[in-house]
Amino acid sequence: MYSEKQRIQTGIYGLDALIGGGFPLGRTYLVAGETGTGKTTFALQYLYRGIEYGDSGLYVTIDERPKHIIEDATSLGWDLEKFIDENKLLIAELTPLFSDTMKIDAEQVIGELKGLISEIEAKRLAIDPIAPLVLRGTEVLDPLAAQMVVRNYIRRLIFALDELNITTVATSEVPTGTRQLSRYGVEEFLASGVIVLRFSRMNSGFVRELYIRKLRGVNHSLSVYNFVIQRGKGIVIST
Ligand SMILES: Nc1ncnc2c1ncn2[C@@H]1O[C@H](COP(=O)(O)OP(=O)(O)OP(=O)(O)O)[C@@H](O)[C@H]1O
Ligand SMILES: [Mg+2]
Repeated sequence: MYSEKQRIQTGIYGLDALIGGGFPLGRTYLVAGETGTGKTTFALQYLYRGIEYGDSGLYVTIDERPKHIIEDATSLGWDLEKFIDENKLLIAELTPLFSDTMKIDAEQVIGELKGLISEIEAKRLAIDPIAPLVLRGTEVLDPLAAQMVVRNYIRRLIFALDELNITTVATSEVPTGTRQLSRYGVEEFLASGVIVLRFSRMNSGFVRELYIRKLRGVNHSLSVYNFVIQRGKGIVIST
């Protein structure tokens, strides 16, 4: 078991109590869910409240413009620009590059991340979402070869992140209507923990639910919890 000192508070209201005080430090955690389930909110909240706890944070997006992230956060009542001005938050748009052989260059991405992390001495990293960071360029390969390349790449990426002394929340989009946890089916095995967000039918509508699918080295709750997304707070789990 990890002591309190070896934990990082998640910033998600109600979550730390379910996992013994927070995520074990220095590893990578996956937040998996279908579209609209609250993955970006989770990632932003982890960083935003982290800054309030004193940790600088790096938010890496691939397909979304930083401007949109800032606008979405504003709608939740979070002023990201203030933290950006204070050098406590960095929002970066990464474009993965490919070598001539169409092999995705994990080292290049890792190098870029390292530079950004040291720029603000980030303790927290959010990659939202992780799949596009590996997707581009693999379309030209046959599916089996693509899967091999992607698996290898994700493995190198996650191992490298774990070396960087940073605690990472990566989001993964669950294809709607499937029982998968991620695009490539390997992210969940390589991550140290998986939090699942989902919708559940209730009367004539849906409610939001969260459960902890795995958290290595932690005696965590196995219950399913309802949560709401609240302006000013973000994700609030009802227990
Ligand atoms: N200010 C707000 N107050 C309450 N709920 C909000 C607010 N802003 C957004 N939401 C809710 O949060 C949802 C979006 O959540 P979020 O962007 O975190 O989901 P996501 O899983 O990242 O989705 P995507 O698949 O688009 O990446 C919205 O669809 C809306 O229901
Ligand atoms: Mg999102």
